Amino acid sequence: MGHFHTNITTDTMKRTRPILIAPSILSADFGAFAAEAQRVEQSGADWVHCDIMDAHFVPNFTFGPGVIAALRKATRLPLDVHLMMTRPDLYVDRFIDAGADYITIHVEPEEYDIAKTLASIRARGKFAGISLNPPTPVEALVPYLHLVDMVLVMTVNPGFGGQSFIPSGIDKVRFLRQKSASLDISVDGGIGTDTGRAVVEAGANILVAGNSLFHHKTLDLAAAVRELREYVTRTD
Ligand code: DX5
Ligand code: ZN
Repeated sequence: MGHFHTNITTDTMKRTRPILIAPSILSADFGAFAAEAQRVEQSGADWVHCDIMDAHFVPNFTFGPGVIAALRKATRLPLDVHLMMTRPDLYVDRFIDAGADYITIHVEPEEYDIAKTLASIRARGKFAGISLNPPTPVEALVPYLHLVDMVLVMTVNPGFGGQSFIPSGIDKVRFLRQKSASLDISVDGGIGTDTGRAVVEAGANILVAGNSLFHHKTLDLAAAVRELREYVTRTD
C-alpha cells in the first residue's frame, strides 16, 4: 500500500509534485467496464475514478460494489471511489471489500458522522477523501482536513458527466493549498486542458476527467491523457 501515494511534505517540492490523471469511468462504455478499465490503464493514466451515485444525494444512479470488484480484477491502477451518497457510512466497508483504494465522501449530508466515517476508512488502511459541491463554502472542510489524505473539489454540480466547469472551484483549491502543502487536492467536473491548467496553477495535483478524455473530439484515450498531462505541466 502507498507506493502510488504522492503526498509531498515541503513547500519547496510543491512545484515538482507529479500531476495524476484520473479518468472517470462514468464516461466509459457501461457495457464493457472491464475492457474500459484496461484501456484506462494502457492509456498511461494514473487512477480510475469511480462515481457512485445513490439517486438521493444526487439525481442519478450509477453502480455499486459489484462493479468496483469487477474493475479491481481488470486493472492494477488505484481505484478512486467517489461516494455521492446520503449515507456513505453504511457502505464504506463494502466498497473497501470490493477493492477501493481511495474513498471520498461528501461534507454536505447531515445524516451521518463524517469524522467517524473518515476514521473508519483509514482504520482499514485506505486513503480517505472529502469532497464539497460548488455551492458549499470551502471553510466547511476545515474541521476535517486533519482527518483526510485528499480533498476532492467539485467543479460541477454532481450527478452527470459532460457538464461545464464552474470556476469558483479555483479559489477553493488555492485556499486548500495555502493551508497544506502535502494534501492531495483533486478537482472533478468539466476538466479539460484549459480548466485543468487553471486548477493545477492554483495548486491541484489530481485531475478527474470524464468527457474530455473519453469523448475527445479528435484524440483516442491515450493521446487525450497525454495531451492533458502535457498541457497542465507545461512550464512556458
Ligand atoms: C460528476 C462526477 C464526475 C464526472 C466528471 O458527478 O463526480 O466524476 O464523471 O465528468 P466530466 O469530466 O465529464 O465533467
Ligand atoms: Zn467524481
